[in-house]
Amino acid sequence: MSDFTHGFWSWYVAAISLVSILACALLLWLAGKARVPAGEAGRQDNTTGHVWDEDLREYNNPLPRWWMWLFILTVVFALGYLALFPGLGSFQGSQRWSQVADHDADVQRMRQALAPLYAEFTAKSVAELSKDPRALAMGERQFLNHCSQCHGSDGRGSKGFPNLTNGQAAWLGPLSGEHIVQTITQGRLGMMPPMAAAVGSEAALSDLAHYVLSLSGSPHKPIKAVAGKASFSSCAACHGVDGKGNKALGAPNLSDNYWLHGWGEEAIVSIIKNGKNNVMPAQSGKLSPEQIHVVAAYVMSLSGSGVAELAQPEVLKPASPAPAVTPIKAP
Ligand code: HEC
Ligand code: HEC
Repeated sequence: MSDFTHGFWSWYVAAISLVSILACALLLWLAGKARVPAGEAGRQDNTTGHVWDEDLREYNNPLPRWWMWLFILTVVFALGYLALFPGLGSFQGSQRWSQVADHDADVQRMRQALAPLYAEFTAKSVAELSKDPRALAMGERQFLNHCSQCHGSDGRGSKGFPNLTNGQAAWLGPLSGEHIVQTITQGRLGMMPPMAAAVGSEAALSDLAHYVLSLSGSPHKPIKAVAGKASFSSCAACHGVDGKGNKALGAPNLSDNYWLHGWGEEAIVSIIKNGKNNVMPAQSGKLSPEQIHVVAAYVMSLSGSGVAELAQPEVLKPASPAPAVTPIKAP
Protein backbone atom coordinates (compact mmCIF):
# COMPACT_ATOMS: atom_id res chain seq x y z
CA MET A 1 0.00 0.00 0.00
CA SER A 2 1.25 3.49 -0.70
CA ASP A 3 -0.01 6.88 0.39
CA PHE A 4 0.98 8.76 -2.77
CA THR A 5 -1.78 11.03 -4.03
CA HIS A 6 -0.57 10.80 -7.63
CA GLY A 7 1.48 8.18 -9.52
CA PHE A 8 4.04 10.87 -10.43
CA TRP A 9 5.29 11.18 -6.86
CA SER A 10 6.05 7.49 -6.68
CA TRP A 11 8.35 7.77 -9.74
CA TYR A 12 9.80 11.02 -8.41
CA VAL A 13 10.78 9.50 -5.06
CA ALA A 14 12.07 6.31 -6.71
CA ALA A 15 14.19 8.34 -9.14
CA ILE A 16 15.72 10.46 -6.34
CA SER A 17 16.58 7.32 -4.34
CA LEU A 18 18.25 5.57 -7.28
CA VAL A 19 20.11 8.66 -8.52
CA SER A 20 21.50 9.31 -5.00
CA ILE A 21 22.74 5.73 -4.67
CA LEU A 22 24.35 5.80 -8.10
CA ALA A 23 25.87 9.21 -7.36
CA CYS A 24 27.45 7.75 -4.20
CA ALA A 25 28.88 4.88 -6.26
CA LEU A 26 30.30 7.30 -8.80
CA LEU A 27 31.83 9.48 -6.10
CA LEU A 28 33.49 6.40 -4.58
CA TRP A 29 34.87 5.30 -7.89
CA LEU A 30 36.33 8.74 -8.57
CA ALA A 31 37.70 9.12 -5.04
CA GLY A 32 39.37 5.70 -5.40
CA LYS A 33 41.20 6.78 -8.57
CA ALA A 34 41.93 10.47 -8.47
CA ARG A 35 44.36 12.35 -6.31
CA VAL A 36 43.87 15.87 -5.09
CA PRO A 37 45.83 18.17 -7.45
CA ALA A 38 49.23 18.97 -6.01
CA GLY A 39 48.36 22.65 -5.52
CA GLU A 40 49.98 25.95 -6.25
CA ALA A 41 53.42 24.98 -5.00
CA GLY A 42 53.45 21.86 -7.17
CA ARG A 43 54.10 19.81 -4.06
CA GLN A 44 56.52 16.95 -4.46
CA ASP A 45 56.17 15.52 -0.88
CA ASN A 46 52.80 13.75 -1.58
CA THR A 47 50.89 15.85 1.00
CA THR A 48 47.87 18.07 0.42
CA GLY A 49 49.64 21.02 1.95
CA HIS A 50 47.29 21.03 4.98
CA VAL A 51 49.17 21.35 8.26
CA TRP A 52 47.73 21.13 11.79
CA ASP A 53 49.29 21.53 15.21
CA GLU A 54 52.50 22.77 13.65
CA ASP A 55 53.67 19.53 12.07
CA LEU A 56 50.69 17.25 11.35
CA ARG A 57 50.40 16.83 7.59
CA GLU A 58 47.69 15.23 5.45
CA TYR A 59 48.90 12.72 2.90
CA ASN A 60 47.46 12.91 -0.57
CA ASN A 61 46.58 9.19 -1.06
CA PRO A 62 43.41 7.62 -2.52
CA LEU A 63 41.09 5.68 -0.14
CA PRO A 64 42.51 2.28 0.86
CA ARG A 65 41.16 -0.46 -1.39
CA TRP A 66 39.49 -2.54 1.37
CA TRP A 67 37.81 0.56 2.66
CA MET A 68 36.44 1.43 -0.75
CA TRP A 69 35.16 -2.12 -1.25
CA LEU A 70 33.22 -1.85 2.01
CA PHE A 71 31.51 1.24 0.62
CA ILE A 72 30.77 -0.51 -2.66
CA LEU A 73 29.25 -3.42 -0.73
CA THR A 74 26.84 -1.01 0.97
CA VAL A 75 25.77 0.27 -2.45
CA VAL A 76 25.21 -3.28 -3.71
CA PHE A 77 23.33 -4.12 -0.53
CA ALA A 78 21.09 -1.04 -0.95
CA LEU A 79 20.22 -1.99 -4.54
CA GLY A 80 19.53 -5.60 -3.54
CA TYR A 81 17.38 -4.48 -0.62
CA LEU A 82 15.35 -2.15 -2.83
CA ALA A 83 14.80 -4.97 -5.32
CA LEU A 84 13.45 -7.30 -2.58
CA PHE A 85 11.61 -4.96 -0.21
CA PRO A 86 9.44 -1.85 -0.54
CA GLY A 87 11.46 1.36 -0.61
CA LEU A 88 11.33 2.69 -4.17
CA GLY A 89 8.19 4.84 -4.36
CA SER A 90 5.21 2.52 -4.38
CA PHE A 91 7.16 -0.46 -5.79
CA GLN A 92 6.38 -3.36 -3.46
CA GLY A 93 9.62 -5.28 -3.91
CA SER A 94 9.81 -8.84 -5.24
CA GLN A 95 9.15 -10.34 -1.76
CA ARG A 96 5.81 -8.45 -1.53
CA TRP A 97 6.54 -7.89 2.16
CA SER A 98 4.41 -5.31 3.99
CA GLN A 99 4.09 -4.18 7.60
CA VAL A 100 0.34 -4.73 7.50
CA ALA A 101 0.64 -8.32 6.26
CA ASP A 102 3.40 -8.95 8.81
CA HIS A 103 1.20 -7.64 11.62
CA ASP A 104 -1.81 -9.63 10.37
CA ALA A 105 0.30 -12.78 10.32
CA ASP A 106 1.41 -12.10 13.90
CA VAL A 107 -2.19 -11.60 14.99
CA GLN A 108 -3.19 -14.80 13.20
CA ARG A 109 -0.39 -16.75 14.90
CA MET A 110 -1.43 -15.35 18.30
CA ARG A 111 -5.07 -16.26 17.63
CA GLN A 112 -4.12 -19.82 16.78
CA ALA A 113 -1.98 -20.10 19.90
CA LEU A 114 -4.81 -18.79 22.08
CA ALA A 115 -7.61 -20.73 20.38
CA PRO A 116 -7.51 -23.73 22.74
CA LEU A 117 -7.56 -21.44 25.78
CA TYR A 118 -10.47 -19.39 24.42
CA ALA A 119 -12.32 -22.61 23.55
CA GLU A 120 -11.95 -23.67 27.19
CA PHE A 121 -13.15 -20.25 28.38
CA THR A 122 -16.18 -20.00 26.10
CA ALA A 123 -17.32 -23.44 27.21
CA LYS A 124 -17.94 -21.92 30.65
CA SER A 125 -20.66 -19.41 31.51
CA VAL A 126 -19.66 -15.81 32.22
CA ALA A 127 -20.50 -16.27 35.91
CA GLU A 128 -18.35 -19.42 36.17
CA LEU A 129 -15.51 -17.78 34.26
CA SER A 130 -15.56 -14.78 36.60
CA LYS A 131 -13.84 -17.02 39.18
CA ASP A 132 -11.02 -18.17 36.89
CA PRO A 133 -7.86 -16.12 37.63
CA ARG A 134 -6.38 -16.79 34.16
CA ALA A 135 -9.48 -15.42 32.44
CA LEU A 136 -9.59 -12.45 34.81
CA ALA A 137 -5.97 -11.56 34.05
CA MET A 138 -6.75 -11.56 30.30
CA GLY A 139 -10.04 -9.75 30.85
CA GLU A 140 -8.36 -7.06 32.89
CA ARG A 141 -5.90 -6.30 30.09
CA GLN A 142 -8.74 -6.02 27.60
CA PHE A 143 -10.67 -3.83 30.00
CA LEU A 144 -7.69 -1.50 30.39
CA ASN A 145 -7.29 -1.28 26.60
CA HIS A 146 -10.90 -0.89 25.55
CA CYS A 147 -13.07 0.18 28.48
CA SER A 148 -11.01 2.13 30.99
CA GLN A 149 -11.12 5.42 29.07
CA CYS A 150 -14.83 5.59 29.94
CA HIS A 151 -15.31 3.32 32.94
CA GLY A 152 -12.00 4.14 34.68
CA SER A 153 -9.04 1.77 35.13
CA ASP A 154 -10.63 0.46 38.33
CA GLY A 155 -14.11 0.20 36.73
CA ARG A 156 -15.58 2.84 39.02
CA GLY A 157 -16.71 5.07 36.16
CA SER A 158 -17.39 8.78 36.48
CA LYS A 159 -20.27 11.16 35.83
CA GLY A 160 -22.36 9.65 33.01
CA PHE A 161 -20.19 6.50 32.81
CA PRO A 162 -21.51 3.75 35.06
CA ASN A 163 -19.55 2.43 38.00
CA LEU A 164 -19.24 -1.29 37.25
CA THR A 165 -18.20 -2.17 40.80
CA ASN A 166 -21.73 -1.44 42.02
CA GLY A 167 -23.97 -4.18 43.31
CA GLN A 168 -27.08 -5.44 41.49
CA ALA A 169 -29.43 -2.69 42.76
CA ALA A 170 -27.47 0.18 41.21
CA TRP A 171 -27.00 -1.41 37.79
CA LEU A 172 -28.93 0.00 34.82
CA GLY A 173 -29.61 -3.48 33.49
CA PRO A 174 -29.76 -6.88 35.17
CA LEU A 175 -26.45 -8.08 36.57
CA SER A 176 -26.25 -11.12 34.32
CA GLY A 177 -23.75 -12.56 31.84
CA GLU A 178 -26.21 -12.02 28.97
CA HIS A 179 -26.73 -8.34 29.82
CA ILE A 180 -23.00 -7.68 30.08
CA VAL A 181 -22.15 -9.56 26.88
CA GLN A 182 -25.01 -7.87 25.00
CA THR A 183 -23.98 -4.41 26.28
CA ILE A 184 -20.38 -4.88 25.18
CA THR A 185 -21.30 -6.40 21.82
CA GLN A 186 -24.10 -4.05 20.77
CA GLY A 187 -23.49 -1.02 22.96
CA ARG A 188 -26.26 0.69 24.92
CA LEU A 189 -28.43 3.75 24.66
CA GLY A 190 -29.89 5.07 27.91
CA MET A 191 -32.72 7.37 26.91
CA MET A 192 -34.83 9.59 29.10
CA PRO A 193 -37.05 12.15 27.29
CA PRO A 194 -37.22 15.78 28.52
CA MET A 195 -40.09 15.77 31.07
CA ALA A 196 -40.41 19.39 32.24
CA ALA A 197 -43.66 19.93 30.31
CA ALA A 198 -45.35 17.11 32.24
CA VAL A 199 -44.24 18.56 35.58
CA GLY A 200 -44.93 22.28 35.17
CA SER A 201 -43.44 25.33 36.87
CA GLU A 202 -39.89 25.79 38.21
CA ALA A 203 -41.30 25.44 41.74
CA ALA A 204 -42.95 22.13 40.83
CA LEU A 205 -39.64 20.92 39.33
CA SER A 206 -37.79 21.86 42.49
CA ASP A 207 -40.39 20.08 44.66
CA LEU A 208 -40.17 16.95 42.49
CA ALA A 209 -36.36 16.99 42.76
CA HIS A 210 -36.66 17.00 46.55
CA TYR A 211 -39.11 14.10 46.36
CA VAL A 212 -36.58 12.18 44.22
CA LEU A 213 -33.85 12.95 46.79
CA SER A 214 -36.12 11.68 49.58
CA LEU A 215 -36.43 8.30 47.82
CA SER A 216 -32.81 7.46 48.66
CA GLY A 217 -32.85 9.17 52.06
CA SER A 218 -30.50 11.84 50.69
CA PRO A 219 -30.52 15.27 52.33
CA HIS A 220 -33.72 17.05 51.19
CA LYS A 221 -36.42 19.49 52.33
CA PRO A 222 -39.34 17.32 53.60
CA ILE A 223 -42.07 19.93 52.89
CA LYS A 224 -40.97 20.27 49.27
CA ALA A 225 -40.69 16.49 48.92
CA VAL A 226 -44.32 16.03 50.07
CA ALA A 227 -45.42 18.70 47.59
CA GLY A 228 -43.46 17.02 44.78
CA LYS A 229 -44.76 13.49 45.33
CA ALA A 230 -47.79 13.87 43.02
CA SER A 231 -45.65 14.93 40.04
CA PHE A 232 -43.71 11.67 40.28
CA SER A 233 -46.64 9.89 38.63
CA SER A 234 -45.26 11.03 35.26
CA CYS A 235 -41.96 9.35 36.09
CA ALA A 236 -43.37 6.12 37.45
CA ALA A 237 -43.93 4.57 34.02
CA CYS A 238 -40.18 4.15 33.70
CA HIS A 239 -38.70 4.53 37.19
CA GLY A 240 -41.47 2.54 38.92
CA VAL A 241 -44.06 3.77 41.42
CA ASP A 242 -41.54 3.39 44.26
CA GLY A 243 -38.66 4.82 42.16
CA LYS A 244 -36.80 1.50 42.22
CA GLY A 245 -36.25 1.68 38.46
CA ASN A 246 -36.92 -0.71 35.61
CA LYS A 247 -33.98 -2.71 34.35
CA ALA A 248 -35.76 -3.74 31.14
CA LEU A 249 -36.03 -0.04 30.18
CA GLY A 250 -32.64 0.84 31.61
CA ALA A 251 -34.36 3.37 33.91
CA PRO A 252 -32.16 3.66 36.97
CA ASN A 253 -33.10 2.98 40.54
CA LEU A 254 -33.64 6.41 42.16
CA SER A 255 -33.86 4.99 45.67
CA ASP A 256 -30.23 3.90 45.90
CA ASN A 257 -27.50 6.35 46.68
CA TYR A 258 -25.76 6.04 43.31
CA TRP A 259 -26.09 9.09 41.06
CA LEU A 260 -24.87 8.42 37.55
CA HIS A 261 -25.67 11.94 36.40
CA GLY A 262 -24.93 13.92 39.51
CA TRP A 263 -26.32 14.43 42.96
CA GLY A 264 -28.58 17.21 44.25
CA GLU A 265 -31.53 19.38 43.27
CA GLU A 266 -29.76 21.15 40.41
CA ALA A 267 -28.61 17.93 38.70
CA ILE A 268 -32.05 16.34 39.00
CA VAL A 269 -33.93 19.40 37.74
CA SER A 270 -31.49 19.57 34.83
CA ILE A 271 -32.09 15.93 33.80
CA ILE A 272 -35.90 16.39 34.06
CA LYS A 273 -35.69 19.48 31.81
CA ASN A 274 -33.18 18.20 29.26
CA GLY A 275 -33.67 14.46 29.38
CA LYS A 276 -30.66 12.28 28.63
CA ASN A 277 -29.20 10.28 25.75
CA ASN A 278 -26.38 8.26 27.21
CA VAL A 279 -24.51 6.16 24.67
CA MET A 280 -22.08 3.32 25.07
CA PRO A 281 -20.66 2.47 21.62
CA ALA A 282 -20.76 -1.16 20.45
CA GLN A 283 -17.42 -2.92 20.88
CA SER A 284 -18.05 -5.82 18.48
CA GLY A 285 -15.80 -4.22 15.82
CA LYS A 286 -12.85 -4.16 18.22
CA LEU A 287 -13.26 -7.39 20.16
CA SER A 288 -14.00 -10.94 19.00
CA PRO A 289 -16.93 -12.79 20.64
CA GLU A 290 -14.39 -14.86 22.64
CA GLN A 291 -12.66 -11.72 23.91
CA ILE A 292 -16.04 -10.22 24.85
CA HIS A 293 -16.87 -13.37 26.80
CA VAL A 294 -13.63 -13.01 28.78
CA VAL A 295 -13.90 -9.26 29.44
CA ALA A 296 -17.54 -9.80 30.49
CA ALA A 297 -16.30 -12.28 33.10
CA TYR A 298 -13.87 -9.64 34.34
CA VAL A 299 -16.70 -7.07 34.58
CA MET A 300 -18.80 -9.56 36.52
CA SER A 301 -15.92 -10.08 38.94
CA LEU A 302 -15.85 -6.31 39.54
CA SER A 303 -19.57 -6.04 40.24
CA GLY A 304 -20.47 -5.89 43.86
CA SER A 305 -16.91 -5.11 44.93
CA GLY A 306 -17.85 -1.47 45.57
CA VAL A 307 -21.16 -2.04 47.37
CA ALA A 308 -19.94 -0.98 50.76
CA GLU A 309 -19.12 2.46 49.37
CA LEU A 310 -22.75 3.24 48.57
CA ALA A 311 -23.60 4.41 52.07
CA GLN A 312 -22.55 7.88 50.87
CA PRO A 313 -23.94 9.45 47.69
CA GLU A 314 -21.48 8.70 44.90
CA VAL A 315 -20.56 11.10 42.08
CA LEU A 316 -20.84 14.77 43.04
CA LYS A 317 -20.98 14.22 46.77
CA PRO A 318 -22.24 17.28 48.68
CA ALA A 319 -19.35 19.58 49.54
CA SER A 320 -17.66 18.38 52.71
CA PRO A 321 -16.16 20.87 55.18
CA ALA A 322 -12.48 21.61 54.65
CA PRO A 323 -10.29 19.21 56.63
CA ALA A 324 -8.93 20.61 59.87
CA VAL A 325 -5.34 21.77 59.55
CA THR A 326 -2.94 20.14 62.00
CA PRO A 327 -0.71 22.87 63.41
CA ILE A 328 2.99 22.22 62.98
CA LYS A 329 4.58 21.89 66.38
CA ALA A 330 7.57 24.07 67.14
CA PRO A 331 10.67 21.92 67.76
C1 HEC B 1 -17.07 5.60 24.96
C2 HEC B 1 -17.31 5.26 26.33
C3 HEC B 1 -17.47 3.80 26.70
C4 HEC B 1 -16.65 2.74 26.40
C5 HEC B 1 -15.38 2.72 25.57
C6 HEC B 1 -17.21 1.60 27.07
N1 HEC B 1 -18.34 1.95 27.73
FE1 HEC B 1 -19.53 0.73 28.81
N2 HEC B 1 -20.85 2.23 29.06
C7 HEC B 1 -20.68 3.53 28.66
C8 HEC B 1 -21.87 4.31 28.98
C9 HEC B 1 -22.06 5.79 28.71
C10 HEC B 1 -22.76 3.41 29.58
C11 HEC B 1 -24.16 3.73 30.10
C12 HEC B 1 -25.14 3.61 28.99
C13 HEC B 1 -26.52 3.89 29.50
O1 HEC B 1 -26.70 4.91 30.19
O2 HEC B 1 -27.40 3.07 29.25
C14 HEC B 1 -22.10 2.12 29.62
C15 HEC B 1 -22.66 0.96 30.15
C16 HEC B 1 -21.99 -0.24 30.35
C17 HEC B 1 -22.52 -1.39 31.02
C18 HEC B 1 -23.89 -1.52 31.64
C19 HEC B 1 -23.85 -1.11 33.07
C20 HEC B 1 -25.17 -1.24 33.77
O3 HEC B 1 -25.30 -0.62 34.82
O4 HEC B 1 -26.05 -1.95 33.28
C21 HEC B 1 -21.53 -2.34 31.01
C22 HEC B 1 -21.60 -3.74 31.60
C23 HEC B 1 -20.41 -1.79 30.30
N3 HEC B 1 -20.71 -0.50 29.92
C24 HEC B 1 -19.22 -2.45 30.07
C25 HEC B 1 -18.23 -1.98 29.23
C26 HEC B 1 -17.08 -2.75 28.82
C27 HEC B 1 -16.73 -4.14 29.33
C28 HEC B 1 -16.39 -1.99 27.95
C29 HEC B 1 -15.12 -2.34 27.20
C30 HEC B 1 -15.16 -3.51 26.39
C31 HEC B 1 -17.08 -0.71 27.83
N4 HEC B 1 -18.19 -0.76 28.61
C32 HEC B 1 -16.65 0.33 27.03
C33 HEC B 1 -19.58 4.05 28.02
C34 HEC B 1 -18.54 3.29 27.52
C1 HEC C 1 -39.32 7.07 29.23
C2 HEC C 1 -38.75 6.63 30.46
C3 HEC C 1 -38.43 7.66 31.51
C4 HEC C 1 -39.24 8.59 32.09
C5 HEC C 1 -40.69 8.83 31.80
C6 HEC C 1 -38.44 9.26 33.09
N1 HEC C 1 -37.18 8.77 33.10
FE1 HEC C 1 -35.67 9.39 34.31
N2 HEC C 1 -34.41 8.17 33.34
C7 HEC C 1 -34.75 7.26 32.33
C8 HEC C 1 -33.58 6.59 31.88
C9 HEC C 1 -33.52 5.51 30.83
C10 HEC C 1 -32.50 7.13 32.62
C11 HEC C 1 -31.03 6.72 32.53
C12 HEC C 1 -30.32 7.44 31.43
C13 HEC C 1 -28.96 6.80 31.29
O1 HEC C 1 -28.90 5.61 30.96
O2 HEC C 1 -27.98 7.48 31.55
C14 HEC C 1 -33.06 8.10 33.55
C15 HEC C 1 -32.31 8.82 34.47
C16 HEC C 1 -32.86 9.61 35.45
C17 HEC C 1 -32.12 10.23 36.53
C18 HEC C 1 -30.62 10.12 36.77
C19 HEC C 1 -30.35 9.03 37.77
C20 HEC C 1 -28.90 8.96 38.17
O3 HEC C 1 -28.51 7.91 38.71
O4 HEC C 1 -28.16 9.94 38.01
C21 HEC C 1 -33.01 10.94 37.27
C22 HEC C 1 -32.70 11.72 38.52
C23 HEC C 1 -34.31 10.76 36.66
N3 HEC C 1 -34.16 9.95 35.56
C24 HEC C 1 -35.46 11.31 37.14
C25 HEC C 1 -36.66 11.26 36.46
C26 HEC C 1 -37.81 11.98 36.85
C27 HEC C 1 -37.91 12.88 38.07
C28 HEC C 1 -38.78 11.70 35.95
C29 HEC C 1 -40.19 12.26 35.89
C30 HEC C 1 -40.32 13.65 35.68
C31 HEC C 1 -38.23 10.79 34.98
N4 HEC C 1 -36.93 10.55 35.31
C32 HEC C 1 -38.91 10.26 33.90
C33 HEC C 1 -36.02 7.03 31.84
C34 HEC C 1 -37.11 7.79 32.14
